[in-house]
Amino acid sequence: MKYNDTYKILTYGCQMNESDSARMSMQLESIGYKAVDSLTDAAIILINTCCVRESAENKIYGKIGEIKHLKQQNPSLIFGVVGCMAQKNGEQLFHRAPHIDFVLGTNKIHELNNVINEIKHSGHHLTDLAPADGGVPQEVLPPSNNNFSVWVPIMYGCNNFCTYCIVPYVRGREHSRSLQSILTEVTNYAKNGVREITLLGQNVNSYGKDLPDTNFAKLLYELDKITGIERIRYMTSHPRDLNDEVINVIKNGRHICTHFHLPVQHGSDRILKAMNRGYTTTEYKTLIKKVRSAVPGCSLTTDIIVGFPGETDEDFMSMLNFLREIRYDAAYTFLYSQRSGTPAAAMAEQVPENIKKKRLKQLMDLQNSISLDINKTFLGKTVDVMVEGPSRTDVQVYTGRTSNNKIILWKKSGNEKPGDIVTIKITHPQTWVLKGDAQYAK
Ligand code: SAH
Ligand code: SF4
Ligand code: F3S
Repeated sequence: MKYNDTYKILTYGCQMNESDSARMSMQLESIGYKAVDSLTDAAIILINTCCVRESAENKIYGKIGEIKHLKQQNPSLIFGVVGCMAQKNGEQLFHRAPHIDFVLGTNKIHELNNVINEIKHSGHHLTDLAPADGGVPQEVLPPSNNNFSVWVPIMYGCNNFCTYCIVPYVRGREHSRSLQSILTEVTNYAKNGVREITLLGQNVNSYGKDLPDTNFAKLLYELDKITGIERIRYMTSHPRDLNDEVINVIKNGRHICTHFHLPVQHGSDRILKAMNRGYTTTEYKTLIKKVRSAVPGCSLTTDIIVGFPGETDEDFMSMLNFLREIRYDAAYTFLYSQRSGTPAAAMAEQVPENIKKKRLKQLMDLQNSISLDINKTFLGKTVDVMVEGPSRTDVQVYTGRTSNNKIILWKKSGNEKPGDIVTIKITHPQTWVLKGDAQYAK
């Protein structure tokens, strides 16, 4: 082995996992480990896992399998599986993949360095899970890297128990971080040059319900006052809990982004009820009207599940009509995946795979045409874009986002660097991105 103080973390799943990985990196770096790009250079490999759909789990099992030969070549390699799938499957992971050294649950991230220490001494398999609802996750070191944009978890867990979803079982009940600890963290980021923050929680509108005298509106209001933070994003909002107070703070905010991600999940009332979403299509539409009139020019995105048990052709048609009526800027669409232990997994009338896939294709085609139509309205307009950096395909082509979360591509024109705001004139709007020309760097 070339090194004994290096690590690599592979992250699957949602932004909460990205954020957890960033915080695990900090813990490892605090005891002298350094990040490397390649798995073969790493003395510690962590896979931070997701189990929201079966496809995610299968992909991760494939990756776990690939690590086996690295462990054979280098027996002192430490290999840990952490996060949601670790929490769900626990010790079973060792039966399936004995080359795993340790399994660390979602509420045990702060134990990472202790666990690594123990493994080094004992060399035995180790599991540290704690029930997912076993108390408030402890504060861990925030990432202090000099990225212009950081994820900020504001609450953990979920109390909603949508009938298809595994997240509440692996992430436990809702726990909010204290207002003060979030404000202090973000103030420090701002001093270090961070320009954009994204607040994270499974249901950010529930922030503060478990604390005295605070709520999401108040948190947004306070964060908006911090000098240096130009853009405040947040996800995910549950449509049932997005109230007038929050809409008002966003409307009057200076730095709060004009993008609403409001997962509807379905457009049929019968299915929404079976999903336990807590709203009807009529209530959802009323909310959208309110949001659009309070924040003109805002963008709206959503998540949709196709093929929930019992979904008929008629339900599916209601979904398509719903999309035509709302006209989302973009939709993240998923094939329903049976997650054992959730109520929906036990429901009769599971929809056959081929029907689900056919419906998904139809839905995506419709949404893509709506997204393109909306994006075409930007042709010739200028937009303010926060620079993210070179695009993946061409270092001369830069990428960034508008306040309302449109992804913009342009040919680098000057000294623009990540975190700067530049003005771009849109010349080629497409379905997922808008291409344009830089006007001048602000
Ligand atoms: N807390 C967020 C995100 C949860 S997971 C929210 O409530 O919106 C992200 C998305 O995955 C969900 O919005 C849902 O559309 C999808 N999802 C969750 N469970 C799923 C399942 N069993 N099958 C398919 N998609 C699922
Ligand atoms: Fe899952 Fe529903 Fe909670 Fe989102 S709100 S994490 S979909 S249970
Ligand atoms: Fe996946 Fe866990 Fe996020 S199951 S979607 S990584 S909360």
